[in-house]
Amino acid sequence: MHLRSSQDLEVEAAGAAEAINMSSHIEAIGPLPGDDSRERKLPAGQDGLIRLERVHKTYRLGDIEVHALRGVSLQIGRGEFVAIMGPSGSGKSTMMNIIGCLDRPTKGQYLLEGIDVSTVDKPGLADIRNKKVGFVFQSFNLVPRTSALENVELPMIYAGVGSSERKRRARAALNEVGLSNREQSMPNQLSGGQQQRVALARALVNNPSLILADEPTGALDTRTSVEVMEIFQRLNRERNLTVIVVTHEPDIAQYAKRIIQFRDGRIHRDFAVESRKDATQVLAELPPEGDDEDQS
Ligand SMILES: Nc1ncnc2c1ncn2[C@@H]1O[C@H](COP(=O)(O)OP(=O)(O)OP(=O)(O)O)[C@@H](O)[C@H]1O
Ligand SMILES: [Mg+2]
Repeated sequence: MHLRSSQDLEVEAAGAAEAINMSSHIEAIGPLPGDDSRERKLPAGQDGLIRLERVHKTYRLGDIEVHALRGVSLQIGRGEFVAIMGPSGSGKSTMMNIIGCLDRPTKGQYLLEGIDVSTVDKPGLADIRNKKVGFVFQSFNLVPRTSALENVELPMIYAGVGSSERKRRARAALNEVGLSNREQSMPNQLSGGQQQRVALARALVNNPSLILADEPTGALDTRTSVEVMEIFQRLNRERNLTVIVVTHEPDIAQYAKRIIQFRDGRIHRDFAVESRKDATQVLAELPPEGDDEDQS
């Protein structure tokens, strides 16, 4: 295998950071009037991890103002598993970017673990993001021509973790998503489901408080989607990791404990999932399919 220097890796890491960092280059503009979203309070005793207070986000596109969020108030506690739903353009990704500290509200307040993120400067945001948040995207966002193991090492390079510790933790994370045997595979040698599991391992290596996944199963078939949800459910259950997943698929939302529906930049509904699906059980009941483990 072609090994690269850690300097090469750092260059790639910078590129990946750019790819991962979707923060808006479009000028944010001033406050907006009006706020009518209803807030669902946390059950007593639940530890508030995320708190949004009347958050607005307005983008300017030339002469046009786009009101992506129109006063969102929301609390999410540690150990919750939330599915965000709603039509295209309703503000789901905008809110995920704010929660993940990729972007700041135009108006309103955002507290993450009690820290008022709305007032933190850009380097401070990057630091919080790197320590507290793991991201997973629909398109996996793996660095091409870079092994699974090296992809998982990337966030630890930003965090300044030494090489041997990086390898050890990257291996453990790949093991946790069932990919120990594919450490040296390049992204193009992995199936979609396997690539998404590498992305999940990468999201986990810095021990985040929070996993944010924006349509993580959007590019996957049914079985592979359930496999990914099985990993999210396991992490949520075993590590009390807070998971927030954006999805267009009602079936996928049923693996969460709580569903928040957006409409026109506001929270339209916010409710508990009544008969939650268990991914392990669903997988056991699915008919065996062409297994994607063997693709390379
Ligand atoms: N960087 C940006 N500049 C300008 N407008 C933006 C930007 N990002 C999002 N928007 C606009 O803000 C609104 C909300 O977008 P957002 O991406 O949050 O929607 P979404 O609910 O994630 O949709 P989808 O389901 O299609 O992913 C849309 O009208 C979108 O066009
Ligand atoms: Mg989106």
